[in-house]
Amino acid sequence: MISSRQVSVSGYAGERDLRAMQELSSRLWSPGARWHVGDLAWGRFQHTGREPEWPTRLWRAGERTVAWGWIELPDHLNLAVDPAYDGLAGEVLDWFAATAPDVRRSVSVLDSEPHLLAALDRHGYRDAGDVPFFVQLAHDLRDLAEPDAPPGYRLRTVGEADVPGRVAAHRAAFHPSRVTEESYRVVRAAWPYRADLDWIVEAPGGEVAAYCLVWLDEARQAAVIEPVGTVPGHRRRGLARAACLAALHAARNAGATRAVVGPRGDAAYPAPARLYRGLGFRDVARSRLLCSRPR
Ligand SMILES: CC(C)(COP(=O)(O)OP(=O)(O)OC[C@H]1O[C@@H](n2cnc3c(N)ncnc32)[C@H](O)[C@@H]1OP(=O)(O)O)[C@@H](O)C(=O)NCCC(=O)NCCS
Repeated sequence: MISSRQVSVSGYAGERDLRAMQELSSRLWSPGARWHVGDLAWGRFQHTGREPEWPTRLWRAGERTVAWGWIELPDHLNLAVDPAYDGLAGEVLDWFAATAPDVRRSVSVLDSEPHLLAALDRHGYRDAGDVPFFVQLAHDLRDLAEPDAPPGYRLRTVGEADVPGRVAAHRAAFHPSRVTEESYRVVRAAWPYRADLDWIVEAPGGEVAAYCLVWLDEARQAAVIEPVGTVPGHRRRGLARAACLAALHAARNAGATRAVVGPRGDAAYPAPARLYRGLGFRDVARSRLLCSRPR
């Protein structure tokens, strides 16, 4: 472990800091890592106006970001910590406790992140028990099926004119949703969004029936699917499968060799994980929700 005294800490001060958080997540990326650069872009920009609910801090050693914490008030923490600076996990948790002192705090990490699990254990966090969880799935893109939209449906990428339809499809798939045309335009302007990795399936009537957005971390040749949806009236026709395969082919053409996705893993919500396993994704980790003791 490297001493945390060499490290400076600062509050989040805008998009340059998101790039710094993404830089750490890219450096730490593996198929079993919780955070891909695309998860951060989507997570921070899919809704607008959330910043006041999201105290965020970065820890830096010189120019290099070595840890970050992102609190979702009132009670949840996201974090990433460079294992070479694992002592900082305790600092992130102390800051979380000071910022959200009067609640039962929760943190979700993957079972592939032992340095975070150890810090959480030392700070008295315990398994939340029988609650929904997520699985981390990975795909070696060398072996990828061809996309095949059903008759009458058309696969294509998203253009500016598609924004209203694309947002309406998302809002129908994830009802109720806080994604708006304004927030989706912010997503499209965020690094590393690429329109060539944002795919829709157009229905015979011209409306957006399904979509899949893939993000590429060029430095790691790694893609992440985030998000996928099909409008309820168009489900179980193979549209999500077709959109995912089209977006994954585009990511492979752009240099991705692997892809990950993190759907629910518990039996109460099986459809997305079945979809991805059917595309060839395989399990590499699962999430664990840990909670502080009740006051
Ligand atoms: C999950 C979702 C995207 C699937 O869309 P879809 O277009 O109906 O999926 P497809 O028709 O391409 O299905 C492909 C495979 O996924 C699985 N699947 C899809 N829906 C399922 C369901 N309701 N129950 C069980 N398995 C399901 C099946 O294995 C299916 O293959 P099959 O039809 O040959 O059995 C859609 O239900 C949805 O938008 N849900 C809400 C948003 C969401 O949860 N997105 C994923 C977040 S990670």
